[in-house]
Amino acid sequence: MTDIDIASLTKQTESVSSEFEKDFAATSNDLSHKAIEDVRIKYLGRKGLFTAISEQMRSVKKEDRPEAGKLLNSVKKNMESKLDQLRTLEKKAALTAQLDAKAYDVSLPVAQTAGSLHPVTLMRRTLLKEFRNLGFIVYDGPEMDLEDYNFSALNFKDDHPARDMQDTFFVKDLEKTVLRTHTSNIQIHAMRNERPPMRVVAPGRTYRCDSDLTHTPMFHQIEGFIIDQNISMADMKGVIDTFLKAVFGTDLETRLRPSYFPFVEPGGEVDLQCVACRGKGCRICSHTGWLEIGGLGMIHPNVFEAVDLDSERYTGFAFGFGIDRIAMLKYGLSDLRQLFEGDQAFLSQFPVN
Ligand code: DAH
Repeated sequence: MTDIDIASLTKQTESVSSEFEKDFAATSNDLSHKAIEDVRIKYLGRKGLFTAISEQMRSVKKEDRPEAGKLLNSVKKNMESKLDQLRTLEKKAALTAQLDAKAYDVSLPVAQTAGSLHPVTLMRRTLLKEFRNLGFIVYDGPEMDLEDYNFSALNFKDDHPARDMQDTFFVKDLEKTVLRTHTSNIQIHAMRNERPPMRVVAPGRTYRCDSDLTHTPMFHQIEGFIIDQNISMADMKGVIDTFLKAVFGTDLETRLRPSYFPFVEPGGEVDLQCVACRGKGCRICSHTGWLEIGGLGMIHPNVFEAVDLDSERYTGFAFGFGIDRIAMLKYGLSDLRQLFEGDQAFLSQFPVN
C-alpha cells in the first residue's frame, strides 16, 4: 500500500469540506429532518465522503500521522457542529410553523367556555356599565376603615346608634377602626382626593352584625355621587330614574320618598315599581306595588366641610343601593342567602358573561 502524505490528505479534506459547506448552506434554506440526515450520511455515514478520507489514516506516513489526526478531527468537529446548528434551526422553524398555524392572542381574556359568573358580579358589571354610560368614573376604597371615614366625616354624631357594637364590626386591637358598614366611606376618600366637578360610583363589600332571612353579615353596595355648581334635586331624580330604567326597563316607574340619613339633607329613599306585579301589589312588594332600592339625598353641608369643600359654592347629591337586593329583584331570586351559599346547581344557571 502506498503511503499518503499530509499534503494529499489536506487537499482531499479541503475539497470535501467545501462541498459540505455548499450542502450546509443549501440545507439551511430548506430545513427538514430528512435533509439534515441526508447531509450527515453523505459525509459522516458508513460510506460517507469524510469517512472515506479518515479510513486512509492507516496509510498516512508515520511522521505525518499526528498532524493528519488533528486535521481530520477538526474537520469532523466542524461538520458535527454545523449539523447540530441545522438541527437547532430545524426545531425553531418547526415551532414557529406550529405557532403560526394556530395563532394565540395572549392578550385575549381566558376563553369563557366553562363556569359562570356570580349573580352579584353580573349585577355589579351591569350597574357599572350603566353608570359609565352616564359619565361616572369608578372609585375604590378600603373595606377596613377609620371611624372618621365611615361615620364622623359623614355627619354621624358620636352617640349615633349605628356606631353601637350591635351593628358595627370593630377591629380588635386597632383603635377607631371598623369594617365599613356602607360604601359611603368612599365618598369621603374620593372627596378628599379629588376636586369638583365629580361624578363617582363605588361598588364594594360592606359589613354589619346582622344575620337573618333578609340580612347577611357581608353584603354589597354601590355608592355614587355628583358634585358641581348648581346641582339640584331635579338632577338627582333624572339621573336615578335614567339609571333604573336602563337596568330594569323603561316601563317601570320610580318614586322618591323622604327619609333620614345623617350625610344628606334632604334625604330620601328611592322605590321602583314592583318588577313582579308591575305595581298591582303582590307578595314580593308586600302588596304596596313598590320595591325599595336604596337611599339618596342632597349632600349635607357638614360633609362638604369635613372634606374642605365650600358648601356655598358646590352642591351635590349622593346615593347608595344594595347590589344583592337589585340582583335578587332583577333575577327573580327568593332568598338572599342563596347568593352566598356557593351552591353549584344554583350558580351554574347564570351565564358566563
Ligand atoms: N349608606 C346608606 C346605607 O347603607 C345608604 C345611603 C343613603 C347612601 C343615602 C347614600 C345616601 O349615599 O345619600 O343605608
